[in-house]
Amino acid sequence: MHGAGSKIVAQIWHVGRISVPQLLDGRDPVAPSAIAAGAKTFDGTGFVETRVPHALTVEEIAATLADYRNAAECAKRAGFDGVEIHAANGYLIDQFLRDTSNTRTDSYGGSIENRTRFLREVVETVIGIWGPGRVGIRLSPWSNANNVGISSDTPELFAAVVDFLNTQDLAFVHLIEGQTGGPRDWPEGAIEALRNRVTAPYIANNGYSHEMAEAALNEGAAAVAFGRLFIANPDLPQRFKAGADLNPLDGDHLYGGGAEGYTDYPTLD
Ligand SMILES: Cc1cc2nc3c(=O)[nH]c(=O)nc-3n(C[C@H](O)[C@H](O)[C@H](O)COP(=O)(O)O)c2cc1C
Repeated sequence: MHGAGSKIVAQIWHVGRISVPQLLDGRDPVAPSAIAAGAKTFDGTGFVETRVPHALTVEEIAATLADYRNAAECAKRAGFDGVEIHAANGYLIDQFLRDTSNTRTDSYGGSIENRTRFLREVVETVIGIWGPGRVGIRLSPWSNANNVGISSDTPELFAAVVDFLNTQDLAFVHLIEGQTGGPRDWPEGAIEALRNRVTAPYIANNGYSHEMAEAALNEGAAAVAFGRLFIANPDLPQRFKAGADLNPLDGDHLYGGGAEGYTDYPTLD
């Protein structure tokens, strides 16, 4: 990546309850509370139902923060330019944030202050390794990805998250706007309000076309992230520049584990 003049950021991702023992050396998945997601995950052979997770103890939360520290250090040693903390899509940090998946009665559950505690500790831990301007974070406030449920206090919850993030020297805040990979739906003005609240460089995502992305950049977004279009078009920037047609996505092979439908899409030339 560096040889080709690019930068590369590793996403640090703990899936929490979106896992199964066969991916965890036989251990149960973990989460803030012992509530099954009612979601499926790919176990290397196919999509399987996730089960009731083990609710993390406070000691295990501390050990999980140490895992984040280790992951951040590994990414640094491996030569990445930065890291993105995955706090979106119903994975572990998101599971702590929402009152749908977090029913704890200790200092990690209940109030917004308590439900945001794990996110704050992860951010501080990872910035502790990487320093200022090298850590970004991804959020998906209005997404039901992995069946996480929309928190009953989403506007206040994510306003509090952003207010905390604004106190940190982050490289970017990356928002999945609406349902991940689905409709760009949210209560009127809600995403716009959050976006205006963010003081770090803003990365927009979800369902963007070239045209929509240009408009977002004109409105002040620092960048737009593409998922599916980039999977299907390894030379997406060149295609945008040339106004060229885009390869269609081969949805049948997503998450399949092999090259087909993943790294075998043709480039323009
Ligand atoms: C096959 C596939 C894998 C994905 N893996 C991740 C992931 O590891 N981390 C993440 O934050 N989002 C992941 N996503 C979500 C995308 O990053 C993105 O938010 C979503 O596809 C919507 O953006 P798009 O409309 O540009 O595709 C994945 C999406 C797809 C289709």
